[in-house]
Amino acid sequence: MMSLSKEWALLSRAMYGQKFIDEVAALLRKNKVKTILECGCGDGNVLRGLADRGFSGLGIDGDPEMIQMANQEHKHPNIKYLTLNWLELGKIAEKYDGVICRGNSLSYVLNWKEGKEVLPEMVIKSAIAKSIGLMFERIKPSGLLYVDTVRQEDIDASTREIALEYPRISLKGRIEYDLERRVRKTYGEGVVWGEEFRGGCESVFITPNELEEVMKQHAARVWRQKFRYEKNYQAICAIK
Ligand SMILES: C[S@@+](CC[C@H](N)C(=O)[O-])C[C@H]1O[C@@H](n2cnc3c(N)ncnc32)[C@H](O)[C@@H]1O
Repeated sequence: MMSLSKEWALLSRAMYGQKFIDEVAALLRKNKVKTILECGCGDGNVLRGLADRGFSGLGIDGDPEMIQMANQEHKHPNIKYLTLNWLELGKIAEKYDGVICRGNSLSYVLNWKEGKEVLPEMVIKSAIAKSIGLMFERIKPSGLLYVDTVRQEDIDASTREIALEYPRISLKGRIEYDLERRVRKTYGEGVVWGEEFRGGCESVFITPNELEEVMKQHAARVWRQKFRYEKNYQAICAIK
């Protein structure tokens, strides 16, 4: 059975193609970003696309399987990948023009992987707040932070059946929000690149308003960024 990390990486590649990466590149150029740190870079699909467009930097991810995929499939002379928990970002001395943490990675800060216990809401929220602070520390003055979270409209809808059909991917499943426990549960099953997948994960979620409030503690300018090709999450940006 395929792992959650591999399933996510292959699905993410299908969902976030060249047109999405063009939009991210345009946002970065507009904000004079040339060097990037991507936290929770996954298999490096987006960072590699940005390197192809002239950006350079570092991708970190806490999951060695993701970094292995990145090194095998998304190598580029302008980027390096490192297995590192972003809560240990203090180990990196360098500062970057921009930091990216997308694909709803923030909410998995303490518990990416299937079957992991869902930690209490306050524990996750304080880890997210700490993460945002550490990310701002790695940004040069006037640099950009781009993060994301689930959309308010999806939280309000509470349950969504999903059917995902892409070349070599056929998945059906469900996304549920437990509003009392503040937990988001995903489940999917089907075939991904010829391998069976069945699984999902649970995590505490943070709303766009809550995430904006955390970012405002570090930045004067915070805004919701619209991307035409981001169909799943709410992007939020800030200038340090
Ligand atoms: C949903 S995946 C998104 C991956 C990638 N950004 C994408 O969109 O394809 C979440 C990723 O965040 C990583 N992650 C979560 N918490 C982390 C942490 N504290 N430090 C480093 N990586 C983390 C996981 O290992 C996983 O690869």
